Amino acid sequence: MKEDLESILYSEEQIRETVKRLGEQISRDYAGKNLLLVSILKGAVVFMTDLMREITIPCRIDFMAVSSYGSEAKSSGIVKINKDLDINLQGYDVLIVEDILDSGRTLRYIIDHLLTGRKPNSIRICTLFDKPSGRIAPIQADYYGMLVPDAFIVGYGLDYDEKYRNLPYIGILKPEIYGG
Ligand code: IMP
Ligand code: MG
Repeated sequence: MKEDLESILYSEEQIRETVKRLGEQISRDYAGKNLLLVSILKGAVVFMTDLMREITIPCRIDFMAVSSYGSEAKSSGIVKINKDLDINLQGYDVLIVEDILDSGRTLRYIIDHLLTGRKPNSIRICTLFDKPSGRIAPIQADYYGMLVPDAFIVGYGLDYDEKYRNLPYIGILKPEIYGG
């Protein structure tokens, strides 16, 4: 897999420190609240499982699976929910745990959908990676781990064509692999 990478952007150590910092911040901010971590399958699974172990206050977790119509490398903003949440959001302070915020269209859709139908106490966003150069939808993260440049990254849960999710670090994929 390593030969498909142009370079390594963030090491395991850098990711670990960032996740720890986010966990501490969230534990402080959500003390006394009714925290529910909601993760979007599959990219955010690795981040979710590490982040929840850095959170020191009581919390619950749930998962949602969505797919977005359109080409593979860019999301269209039209999102189909393939697996909905198990937990009724009423009374919860929901923190969406995402792998990367790019155009923002997927999360904009999901948040609008949850806010209109489900009556949570609050909804905020925690994304490990933020790619501000890609932003189209009006949305910003309440918590973000690290900035990424305008490039396609893989590893630590993030995929290209369902591959590379098991890399423990973050690499920049060679453009010739995805035809960029
Ligand atoms: P968007 O914010 O709606 O454009 O889409 C965000 C989703 O697109 C993320 O949850 C990822 O699944 C995927 N994505 C965006 N940028 C990258 C990247 O650089 N590498 C891997 N997946 C990405
Ligand atoms: Mg994703």
